[in-house]
Amino acid sequence: MREFLTRLEQATALDRVGDRLQRAVQGTLRSQRVRDVLHGVFLGHPLHPAMVQVPVGAWISAAVVDLLPGQRRAATALVGVGTVSALPAAVAGFNDWAALSRDQRRVGLVHAAANTVGLALYASSLAARLNGRHGAGRALAYLGLSAASAGAYLGGHLAYKQGAQVNQSISDLHLISDGWHGVGELAELPQRKLVTREIDDVSVILYRHGDDVTVMLERCPHQSGPLGEGEVQEIDGHACVVCPWHGSAFRLNGGEVVHGPAANDQAILPTRVVDGRVEARLP
Ligand code: FES
Repeated sequence: MREFLTRLEQATALDRVGDRLQRAVQGTLRSQRVRDVLHGVFLGHPLHPAMVQVPVGAWISAAVVDLLPGQRRAATALVGVGTVSALPAAVAGFNDWAALSRDQRRVGLVHAAANTVGLALYASSLAARLNGRHGAGRALAYLGLSAASAGAYLGGHLAYKQGAQVNQSISDLHLISDGWHGVGELAELPQRKLVTREIDDVSVILYRHGDDVTVMLERCPHQSGPLGEGEVQEIDGHACVVCPWHGSAFRLNGGEVVHGPAANDQAILPTRVVDGRVEARLP
């Protein structure tokens, strides 16, 4: 299985379809606001993994209820809930997928294909049940569960092995030792410009506004892009750093994510000024 997954990550033959689909997703989901909602920016966590709990829970429950006598209506209702709720979960998944790296998109493509087959089988199961063909509905649902389980396995690989949509920067905090660290002289820091420094070999960005200095991890939580090479933009009245790779934006006065594809806030390090020297420490 590991060998299969490694080959899947390297399967360049999937790129033609993947690139076309990526353009189609980006062309369809044009609204920044809609994309941010689907990424889970308002939650501070990716939305897709939360949304899939509903169809997965409903479909597994239907599989159990289908084994019990006299529960046809309950099973039909559960299959219906799972089928309907899978659609918005899939849209959120495609939105995340379109901003992944190539190797992640290859695995994500097969993950989506398996889940699409599962969804089609469940939709057929629902239609059969509503037409009174409960035996066929049960069989189609078990086939759907098999396909959706294969999709879930690939989704787990995407998240836990390939690190898709997990916070890429947070582990940098584990490399910074306790205590205050000097990061530069306040008088030498330019106003409202990004400056990159290191603390224990971890790259951070400094942003001075008056006599306040923000110290933020430089690695973008989405895909490790260099925030130090990003632009500072005013968004909703707040100075934000915009990642040069995929455009995620983070407030420089708190680290909150304001635009995806990142769904996690960026870590800010507390600061103080001692004898004109700016110091930062772990939060
Ligand atoms: S790396 Fe993707 S938005 Fe920063």
